[in-house]
Amino acid sequence: MDLQQQLAQFPRLDLVGPATPLERLSRLSEYLGRDIYVKRDDVTPMALGGNKLRKLEFLAAEALHQGADTLVTAGAIQSNHVRQTAAVAAKLGLQCVALLENPIDTKAENYLTNGNRLLLDLFNVEVVMCDALHDPQAQLAELATRLEAQGFRPYIVPVGGSNALGSLGYVQCAIEIAAQSHDINFSSIVVASGSAGTHAGLAVGLQQQLPEVELIGVTVSRRVIDQLPKVEQLQKSVAGLLGIETLTPITLWDDYFAPHYGVPNDEGMAAVKLLAQQEGMLLDPVYTAKAMAGLIDGISQKRFRDKGPILFIHTGGAPALFAYHPQV
Ligand SMILES: Cc1ncc(COP(=O)(O)O)c(C=O)c1O
Repeated sequence: MDLQQQLAQFPRLDLVGPATPLERLSRLSEYLGRDIYVKRDDVTPMALGGNKLRKLEFLAAEALHQGADTLVTAGAIQSNHVRQTAAVAAKLGLQCVALLENPIDTKAENYLTNGNRLLLDLFNVEVVMCDALHDPQAQLAELATRLEAQGFRPYIVPVGGSNALGSLGYVQCAIEIAAQSHDINFSSIVVASGSAGTHAGLAVGLQQQLPEVELIGVTVSRRVIDQLPKVEQLQKSVAGLLGIETLTPITLWDDYFAPHYGVPNDEGMAAVKLLAQQEGMLLDPVYTAKAMAGLIDGISQKRFRDKGPILFIHTGGAPALFAYHPQV
């Protein structure tokens, strides 16, 4: 059985469509003196796009299969994941309840009400605020128990959609990349590594489809010492679901997320402006800005293993630009 057939064993809704585009960024390539391509998961077809839709194809299918009437999830006030989960819930006629935290402890009006948060109201999400998501799994379980007592049938979508089932969405993305890049021979692929499902799914899929390519995760919330076990554990679970036994080593760069999760930095914001002005393409301040800053610095510091073409996985997030204004 090939990888696509293995994947087809898991129930899945068609939310993403046949494939997101894979494009060469010609002006940026000229500017950086390196061939740069982008996988446009920022334009997945629902609610302003982003990487979570691929995970939700599998997770929402399971929710429907279990007879759920409510998707329950958690994240930051400006979570792209919560916004996409809410949109999918609306499309499927389900309720959505979201447990939100303010991870940067800001009182800035735009952060509290604009961007992704504004869209949650449009999708009619029931928002429950908490002081901090210190143990999201337990906090979500507690919330689900409360909802059950009220007569709902909740399905818990983990933070970032990042369990093994959700991460299968990025095995699918790896299959797409392989099909779209026959004549390109990517040397490296760069992706933001947060709750880790995107990174782990790609690691498993690329190992099967494009084993020569180096996959680099740029951390957006933790140092390598904390992120590596997270990615590896998920990689192992994803591989386990697909009956794959050998695993490739995970590479992480953690030099680009300072001062910490959810707070923009100068290098990231310079990358946002560069992409906007060279390519008319929008990055986000929290994830893709920092991952792109890593790509740009990686080229100038000669951190990539050779000078071949690099593919950037654009995971979305631009709605947060409005939330971070005027800080950015
Ligand atoms: C725009 C964007 N990029 C990247 C990520 C990171 O993906 P993952 O959580 O699968 O590591 C997220 C997660 O929320 C995101 O919203």
